[in-house]
Amino acid sequence: MSASPLLYVKDLNVAFASRDGGAARAVDGLSLDIAAGETLALVGESGCGKSTTALALMGLLDAPDARVSAAQLRFGGTDLGALDERGWRALRGGGIGMIFQDPLSALNPVRTIGRQIVEALTLHRGVRGRVARGEALELLRLVGIPEPARRYDDYPHRLSGGMRQRVLIAMEQAGEPRLLIADEPTTALDVTIQAQILALLASLQKQTGMALLLITHDLGIVGQLAHRVAVMYAGRKIEERPVDALFDAPLHPYTQRLLRTRPSPTHAASERTRLSEIPGAVPAPGLAPGGCAFAPRCAFAQARCRDDVPDWRAITERDERDEHDEHDEHDEHDEHDEHDERNGGVRCVCADESPLIDARHVHA
Ligand SMILES: Nc1ncnc2c1ncn2[C@@H]1O[C@H](COP(=O)(O)OP(=O)(O)OP(=O)(O)O)[C@@H](O)[C@H]1O
Ligand code: SF4
Ligand SMILES: [Mg+2]
Repeated sequence: MSASPLLYVKDLNVAFASRDGGAARAVDGLSLDIAAGETLALVGESGCGKSTTALALMGLLDAPDARVSAAQLRFGGTDLGALDERGWRALRGGGIGMIFQDPLSALNPVRTIGRQIVEALTLHRGVRGRVARGEALELLRLVGIPEPARRYDDYPHRLSGGMRQRVLIAMEQAGEPRLLIADEPTTALDVTIQAQILALLASLQKQTGMALLLITHDLGIVGQLAHRVAVMYAGRKIEERPVDALFDAPLHPYTQRLLRTRPSPTHAASERTRLSEIPGAVPAPGLAPGGCAFAPRCAFAQARCRDDVPDWRAITERDERDEHDEHDEHDEHDEHDEHDERNGGVRCVCADESPLIDARHVHA
């Protein structure tokens, strides 16, 4: 965990009501933290629970369809678990902002973009009238809308996808968010515009010190923007590392497979690779097989993986150091520990804590 995270999530669970009257977990025991000024990327294939996590963090999942619980859900000094609807409304667009893949559906089609930004300013900062108009124009300028005074009275449908995303970012900036959640913010845009939006997010982060939770399928943009990456599979976080460490030496068998779907450096920039190229699919909530949810797709699966529910635990350099120290304390340090520390790797650990698989020498 970072020294003083802005967002601290421990053991987040989200269950959706299923047709048979039961509940199926879409997010299962997820923990993460983000510091001010930091970008954490949340990656994984379609259906692994990324957007559900984001909606839970925005207080946008309601009972009885969704049940959200967490051991801790803290944003700055606020316990999100204790917020009522009024508290969530104050936080949304204020402390925490969110932008989506499809900005058009997030904008009101019958209001000018200027008016929508003014409304956001009024709602979150109480600014009105001429002052609000001036600030709205300033925000349009900040997000790179050319000729803001002329664009102010345009309706969303008159803008390109990239411009609409800029307007949405401007509306979110109206609330001066300390955390911006960006859920596939560039997936609907072509590659040149995508690069411009990413550059805008990076520049805003630099200017404002906001934290960024970047949700994406696209590992290319993770490399450009993120400091750390958390990988999700079937509602669970299976690995979390600094971005370079993850790209250099992915630890978990699923992460290793994901990274193999990355375009090579010689791949044309226009050829986007989505993470859907691993044969098979993420099981829907409640439909994961017994044992490890990744077992049907895992090259290392053993019979035992289908029986036990392993604690998917990546052995990071830090873990290995701790393990090493522990062994030192107990005077049980042997050659095997030294070998562990040098190589790093992943162990899928079952309940009895004996390594199920050691995937140290696998190269993505
Ligand atoms: N309101 C809901 N009721 C029931 N199931 C839901 C609901 N919302 C999402 N799900 C299911 O939860 C799982 C996770 O969905 P989620 O949208 O979080 O995935 P995702 O990782 O964001 O995928 P994508 O990359 O396609 O956006 C999916 O199987 C989805 O069908
Ligand atoms: S527990 Fe087994 S199936 Fe699951 S990732 Fe590890 S080795 Fe693969
Ligand atoms: Mg999603």
